[in-house]
Amino acid sequence: MKAAIELNKTPRAKPSRSGLNYFVKTFGCQMNEHDSERIAGLFEYDGMLKANSLEQADVLFINTCTIRENADDKLYGTLGQLKKWKSENSNRKLLVGGCAAQKDKELVRERAPWVDVVIGTHNLTNIVNLLNQSEDWGPITEVIDEIESLPTDAPSIRESEVSAWLTIQIGCNNSCTFCIVPSVRGPEISRRPSDIVNEATAMIDSGVKEITLLGQNVNSYGRDLKINGSSKPYFTELLTELNNVEGLKRIRFTSPHPKDFKPETLIAVNDLDKVANQIHMPLQSGSNKILRKMQRGYTQEKFLEKLNLAKDTIEDVSLTTDIIVGFPGETDVDFEETLKVIKESQFDAVYMFKFSPRPGTTANTMDDDFIEKEVIDSRFMKLKEIQTEISHVRYKRFIGTDQKLLVEKYSKKTNTFMSGKIDGGQTVHIPSQDVSIGDFLDVRIIEATPFALTAEII
Ligand code: 5AD
Ligand code: SF4
Repeated sequence: MKAAIELNKTPRAKPSRSGLNYFVKTFGCQMNEHDSERIAGLFEYDGMLKANSLEQADVLFINTCTIRENADDKLYGTLGQLKKWKSENSNRKLLVGGCAAQKDKELVRERAPWVDVVIGTHNLTNIVNLLNQSEDWGPITEVIDEIESLPTDAPSIRESEVSAWLTIQIGCNNSCTFCIVPSVRGPEISRRPSDIVNEATAMIDSGVKEITLLGQNVNSYGRDLKINGSSKPYFTELLTELNNVEGLKRIRFTSPHPKDFKPETLIAVNDLDKVANQIHMPLQSGSNKILRKMQRGYTQEKFLEKLNLAKDTIEDVSLTTDIIVGFPGETDVDFEETLKVIKESQFDAVYMFKFSPRPGTTANTMDDDFIEKEVIDSRFMKLKEIQTEISHVRYKRFIGTDQKLLVEKYSKKTNTFMSGKIDGGQTVHIPSQDVSIGDFLDVRIIEATPFALTAEII
């Protein structure tokens, strides 16, 4: 692995693309959104400016996702629509990167020959170099199996001025049987604590108030670094180091794995004043039979034990989870077990997914046990209905309470409201009068839906 990228290693003497405009369109998770900020950083280093729309763009980067089948379908649908965009101006460049590009490689240009560059997840920092090469020699695909450089080696242009992603780890060493992530993102690699703290400090200097630590399995952070000769995770210590960064208001992290959650991390979340009292504990299924088939490494009982420990340790903790409905072999009885855990856990929010077979995963070979679409749809609706009620009750607990709100942006629908998040991670809307982006305000919650809160300044 290279220690840092050589930003000026273009193979020809061309100054830059100043005067040209770029646009980055992102599908998928927070890791992808953050990678897109790095792509934007590299493009701006090359002299380009962000376009306000696709129409204005000379260079378009599509950052793809492949976690579920419909993400793949969306990509090829989008590329189909972009054929027209490309044909309108022969100087336009269409670049495709991210997880679906890593998986499909040459297939991307077989299905959409108008694409100029296909780049994988392991060499993202080479994007400008590949763009240059495509201009000189024609369309190019560069998808490699080994990590060449970390995206974090590249400069970044953040979407939000006040809340920033901070990658602490890339890849994943687990082997959940439904998940394609290890095959497209590679094995777990942790960044050095000093690099992370330095990046956090630089972010604060540029106006950031809140950071969200990103990794596929954050509680195993540091195992590979052998800090002080030990292969123990260093996540709790990292939280403590970041809590000391002056000027930082709030720290969040995602995603942890229930099997790797340590009691000391829960204590640190409660005790460290800047770490938000919010835990995402991805359950996936409540049935022990299905959890075993998923290779999740815990049982329903162990999961509930950890969740209850989180509730007992962290004051007014906000809990969220992920559920996959319709994993191969899931019976009505298995699904009832999931509903039982959902009712008992009282999550603030549940991210729900319908099982989607992914190529190369073990679950993809369980086709004898695949569940009918209609059954999955009806279970999904039932889960949604039950959780919406629970979320509403959970959100209503805030009415009349005072909370610290970090104002992040104008609300999507109207300029008369702004929105941000409180400590528990819930979205809050507030009248925009006398409020600015970046304010860290004391507010009183006055209204709750199952998905958001409304507040007034106190
Ligand atoms: N099908 C459905 N959902 C999936 N997830 C991951 N892989 C699949 C799949 N093949 C969900 C899991 C994970 C979240 C990020 O996406 O719930 O926690
Ligand atoms: Fe996928 Fe499991 Fe790794 Fe999460 S922990 S990225 S679900 S393999």
